[in-house]
Amino acid sequence: MILVLDFGGQYNQLIARRVRENNVYCEVHTALDIEKIRSFKPEGIILTGGPQSVYKEDSLLPPIEIFNLGIPILGICYGAQAMAKILGGEVNPASVSEYGKTEVEIVGASKLFANVEKKSVAWMSHTDRIFSAPEGFIVTASTKNCPIAAMEDGTKNFYAVQFHPEVVHTIEGMKIFSNFVDICGCKRDWKMSSFVVDTIAKLKKKIGGGKVLCALSGGVDSSVAAVLLSKAVGKNLTCVFVDHGLLRKNEAAEVEAVFKNFDLNFIKIDAGERFLNKLRGVIEPERKRKIIGEEFIRVFEEVSKKIGAVDYLVQGTIYPDVIESGLGKSAVIKSHHNVGGLPDFVDFKEIVEPLRLLFKDEVREAGRELGLPENLVNRQPFPGPGLGIRIIGEVTAEKVKIVQDADAIYREEIFKAGIKNLSQYFAALTNMRSVGVMGDGRTYDYAIALRAVLTSDFMTAEAAQISWEVLNVVANRIVNEVKGVNRVLYDCTSKPPATIEFE
Ligand code: XMP
Repeated sequence: MILVLDFGGQYNQLIARRVRENNVYCEVHTALDIEKIRSFKPEGIILTGGPQSVYKEDSLLPPIEIFNLGIPILGICYGAQAMAKILGGEVNPASVSEYGKTEVEIVGASKLFANVEKKSVAWMSHTDRIFSAPEGFIVTASTKNCPIAAMEDGTKNFYAVQFHPEVVHTIEGMKIFSNFVDICGCKRDWKMSSFVVDTIAKLKKKIGGGKVLCALSGGVDSSVAAVLLSKAVGKNLTCVFVDHGLLRKNEAAEVEAVFKNFDLNFIKIDAGERFLNKLRGVIEPERKRKIIGEEFIRVFEEVSKKIGAVDYLVQGTIYPDVIESGLGKSAVIKSHHNVGGLPDFVDFKEIVEPLRLLFKDEVREAGRELGLPENLVNRQPFPGPGLGIRIIGEVTAEKVKIVQDADAIYREEIFKAGIKNLSQYFAALTNMRSVGVMGDGRTYDYAIALRAVLTSDFMTAEAAQISWEVLNVVANRIVNEVKGVNRVLYDCTSKPPATIEFE
């Protein structure tokens, strides 16, 4: 096990991910005392980056005793400076701060840099730097503005790098982590199956006989979180699945079928009519989002009151949610409603977030380990307000049916064509009706818009180039099979300036 001591840097969870990619178990903790650190019995410690300055009095430093544990330590950025400061080196503000991709040169033999190219690009982000290395250390890498870009005491296995090996822009980053894991003598036998087993054991211990409530959306994250909890506490878990009537075709039934197989209390609330009533006559996107979010909470509240006092509320928060919530005061483009983001209206003691440290692909992997079916594990993102924001303008039962049917055809054909690289794709109902001709008659019907995007972070996206043959089949089927549609359009816009969803 490798312990990551967190000093608040932006990329810290990536460090854990890089270690896990080497099949080594890893935990991230803040402000631990030496006894607690010892109790983990780590084979190595990584000190992360952070926004503070080691020479300021109130800055958080690791306990000095970690350097007497006899295990390898890797300091990254602030962590490197903390190591320098504690062991007698000197850290000061740099005259030139470095930010972004920077050429770094290996200048000394180092086990940490085994098989690493002598010159490569690394990601820098610092305003302080190490001016003199502690006694016993040698300098192992430099950049133009940072003579001590890496240093080490190879006999004690203390390593420090000013750059960020955890960030993809550091070309040799993965090798550096792999080398560190070897230096620590880790066995590399940790897998997602171990994460699942460990997490279930920890949840069992923490929750004991307590009552747990989970709002299930049918998405990957809340489903995996729910199944983990069910394996830990069985019938003490109640999953509430609110069907707001704005789900994809057959989705509610599919979710119900999956969860009937697990040992938990599953409550499905059919609230479609209730949501439609609230949405009647409403056309403004933000109001629609707010109404759906609010109504969701009301339904959930009613159910949880019936269940009675709960000790824990489960949320399927995953690591990118954690990063996004921490990004400060950015402009509200859309009020995201996520069933994971339920507020504190339920009478509960604590929130449990078993997936907090995982990235999406790791969550999917955990889902497979837990026996969730592939169609659920691979489900593309689906917004909390559902089809409510894929129908431009007023939402009616007729429009919901149209968009559900069109979307089901689109998904079926993409599947048949074997297209697997799309990040997200769906049909939306434009609020536009236009003239067409069918048989010998005039029609005046809706236009369906097809959307498909490629993106890694969903903050920006490009429109995917789906082959004309496939689009043709989809368009033909939709106009022929879905009543009320006489035109199909393909959205070629990227984000920005458009967004992925239509509202
Ligand atoms: P936009 O439309 O903002 O979407 O480009 C970016 C990603 O977020 C999803 N999305 C939501 N997810 N609740 C969610 O859980 C929401 O209210 C919501 N709105 C958009 C969208 O599907 C896309 O993946």
